[in-house]
Amino acid sequence: MGPRHCAAVGALLAIVAGGALLAWSARAQQNAAPQGASAMFARIATVLRSPRCLNCHTVTDFPRQGDDRHAHLFFVTRGPDDRGLPWARCTSCHGEANNNATGIPGRPDWHMAPLSMGWEGLSDTGLCHRLLNPADNGHRTPEQIYEHIAFDRQFIAWAWSPGRNIQGVQRTVPPIPRHAFSLLVKEWVAAGAPCPQ
Ligand code: HEC
Ligand code: HEC
Repeated sequence: MGPRHCAAVGALLAIVAGGALLAWSARAQQNAAPQGASAMFARIATVLRSPRCLNCHTVTDFPRQGDDRHAHLFFVTRGPDDRGLPWARCTSCHGEANNNATGIPGRPDWHMAPLSMGWEGLSDTGLCHRLLNPADNGHRTPEQIYEHIAFDRQFIAWAWSPGRNIQGVQRTVPPIPRHAFSLLVKEWVAAGAPCPQ
């Protein structure tokens, strides 16, 4: 075999080997995808299920309070527009900023998430589907969910600066810092927003 043949055989081998490697890595990736998706979404879910988020994202007729997520004081209910009943509007007590003297948290137009955005009692898979379902999530694409999470200055911003509670104790914040959480959601959306099986 001359050097030309040798080079040709070498090239052929390289192509075959390369092809096999590609096929193998594609298969490896396919196998890894569901596991990766579960792991990624499980971390996202630790924030979605933190009391600061879940107390507004309830499946009940009322908001909740505290880390033990007890029903809101004074029998406050969501009312027809998630902003309370005519005689007990959320904004009759909640101002535009946290009031650390009274322990009442605040942000402009304080109100709870609609029932379709209630996240209590769902498995990771159920929570993931609810978050992504346009009929439930206010017709948001996964990219728009990311943008809401990363750039909202109203309630998501509040969850990481929740002020003091009625006992004068600083409220706890979600388990992952906001910036790291946003990056995690960005990565998940870029991966096609996969839900765990
Ligand atoms: C004070 C109440 C309140 C708190 C606290 C709150 N939210 Fe919301 N959230 C809302 C309301 C109201 C909407 C609906 C806004 C809209 O559709 O314009 C909403 C919508 C959303 C949406 C888009 C809809 C969907 O289902 O995908 C996401 C995502 C979201 N919230 C995430 C969070 C996260 C994460 C936290 C905690 C870090 C949080 N929220 C804390 C009230 C709240
Ligand atoms: C009569 C006054 C009053 C009204 C009306 C009211 N709230 Fe509150 N809210 C409070 C007080 C006081 C606290 C602080 C309680 C504490 O720290 O234990 C609070 C705390 C909260 C919290 C903080 C929960 C946390 O993470 O610990 C949420 C969420 C909340 N209210 C939602 C609402 C919503 C939504 C409405 C309207 C449907 C509403 N509130 C109406 C007085 C009120």
